[in-house]
Amino acid sequence: AMAHALLGGGKRLRPQLLNAAMGLGEYREDLALRAGAGIEMLHAYSLIHDDLPCMDDDDLRHGRPSCHKVYGEAMAILAGDALQALAFETLTRVVADAKLSASAGLAALGEFARTAGPLELVGGQAGDLEPPRELDGESQVSWIHARKTAALIRCSLSLGARLGKLPEEECARLSRAGQLLGLAFQIVDDILDLEASSTELGKTAGKDQALGKRTLPSVIGVEASRRRAEGQLEEALDLLPSGPESEPLKTLAHKLVHRRF
Ligand code: IPE
Ligand code: IPE
Ligand code: MG
Ligand code: MG
Ligand code: MG
Repeated sequence: AMAHALLGGGKRLRPQLLNAAMGLGEYREDLALRAGAGIEMLHAYSLIHDDLPCMDDDDLRHGRPSCHKVYGEAMAILAGDALQALAFETLTRVVADAKLSASAGLAALGEFARTAGPLELVGGQAGDLEPPRELDGESQVSWIHARKTAALIRCSLSLGARLGKLPEEECARLSRAGQLLGLAFQIVDDILDLEASSTELGKTAGKDQALGKRTLPSVIGVEASRRRAEGQLEEALDLLPSGPESEPLKTLAHKLVHRRF
């Protein structure tokens, strides 16, 4: 069940972001690949649980039956739990082998833990089910997107920067760029949910409307949402170093926002 979810497809955008960010500093391919695998394990777990009948109730993922359709709900829940733990084990080993200082290593693992937890990914998924009542409209959507999606995309860039031993200030800029790209990424996900087909997406199209989800296009319309995502992309690009070393990251940033699936 774990392999079905992790190895059965996916764009691998988060590992690619980590790889490109690490490329701005002291790059080691073995560490970039293993750290990327760790990030992807957390992502794959979040999708297994996201697809469960008690959450988005989605039968299709990566153009195949989702994990619980093949292995049953109990095994899918456990596969998600196990992938989450394995993500932490994997990243812990990477941090040890990267020979970061003790404080830098703990900061990296601490950020990953925070990203995975109640203040970010899980909190955002909870908000997606039961939106915070004290907010409305756009601010509610942004609150959810920042947590359920942008946090892990930010963390991918941030971990890459930390493993590449970039200076603190540069790590912070990449982190801010990642947060913006993550917000744009979820806007595009919600637009594609409206406009693309299930075959193109490899997951059920039209799901947000069917579930009555509040998305940016449902609040401000598709065109305004597209402009918002473009604006966030531009802001993110401005935060990247200006030299040719940023090209791989810039190409990826464009791909995140201009993708068709
Ligand atoms: C899907 O993410 C879940 C969201 C946060 C919108 P991706 O679109 O990156 O999924 P994969 O990895 O390609 O399957
Ligand atoms: C998922 O958002 C975000 C996660 C943290 C898994 P969606 O529910 O929109 O993702 P898809 O459309 O099912 O991939
Ligand atoms: Mg969801
Ligand atoms: Mg979903
Ligand atoms: Mg979606």
